[in-house]
Amino acid sequence: MRILFCCTGTKAQPWLEGFRTAFPGAEVETWSAGAPPADYAVVWTPPQQFIDEQTQLKGIFNIGAGVDALMTLRLPPGVPVVRLDDAGMSVQMAEYVCHAVIRHFREFDGYEADAAEGKWSYRKPRQRSDFPVGVMGLGVLGERVGRALAQFEFPVMGWSRSARTIAGVQCFSGEAGFNDFLAASRILVCLLPLTPDTDNIMCQGTLARLQPGGYVINVARGSHLVDDDLIALIDSGHLAGATLDVFRTEPLPAAHPFWTHPKITVTPHTSARTLREESIAQIAGKIQALQRGEPVAGVVDPARGY
Ligand code: NAP
Ligand code: GLV
Repeated sequence: MRILFCCTGTKAQPWLEGFRTAFPGAEVETWSAGAPPADYAVVWTPPQQFIDEQTQLKGIFNIGAGVDALMTLRLPPGVPVVRLDDAGMSVQMAEYVCHAVIRHFREFDGYEADAAEGKWSYRKPRQRSDFPVGVMGLGVLGERVGRALAQFEFPVMGWSRSARTIAGVQCFSGEAGFNDFLAASRILVCLLPLTPDTDNIMCQGTLARLQPGGYVINVARGSHLVDDDLIALIDSGHLAGATLDVFRTEPLPAAHPFWTHPKITVTPHTSARTLREESIAQIAGKIQALQRGEPVAGVVDPARGY
């Protein structure tokens, strides 16, 4: 068996060693132009040249959950493209989103500012029922986040393409359910895949439908959000602020207004990191399953784009 590793911005050696341990006797190498054909590819934002050259692949494994970069390439028909299926990401995402929601709800920024001035000042407790959280995307990550928020007794709304039932989450679906979902939400969490249907989904028209004092948490992709619309709605007072982990250009350019906006928190695309050992174990298990002719979870549907 031959496995090629073609992952932009990723230190290859530990991954190669992990796959060599999982498959003793297999050839496991980093791709370079003109490399001999492989059976399986492990990729993150590979160039089109890689896909064009590797004509004998039996599976393409993405070392992230989002496949939007892959979906922009011409991919070989019939070769399964497999995304990471949790692999330790959903608990990280639940931590990040619950932290952002609770920090906003409990006004920890305000307490931090008071403490910096040596002030011992109580704020009036706020009602959880006044902070319904809407989670867009109820897949592997969104469902876990919705369940975690429900544990803290926030009212939780969820929105997905197909109808879902999740304990503790009031579920809406499709275009028909979108307006009601937004109107029922004050804090909006984006955990959608980036597709032509979801590009720019958080714009003036949608964010203005959130309840007054709304708050945005984007942990999916930067292109889900229209940056200027978010800033205008915060500055007009309709939105209270945002926590943003993902951006149209990453790293976020030094001159971008998000860096200095007092009501926006920026983190460097870190809400749910790819965990190498878990990912190697998951991908190796799926390669073994494909070798046995068995189906695997997490195969991307190119027609849906996720
Ligand atoms: P997933 O399992 O594929 O779930 C996607 C969810 O979005 C599903 O519930 C799906 O609906 C819904 N959806 C897709 N298109 C929709 C549409 N047009 N309208 C309404 N709902 C739609 O994906 P995941 O593993 O949860 O990951 C979600 C995204 O998180 C990834 O694509 C990636 O961009 C992002 N991510 C970010 C980080 C980070 O560190 N910031 C880390 C990992 C992932 P159905 O249930 O009906 O299919
Ligand atoms: C990270 O953003 C991922 O898609 O896994």
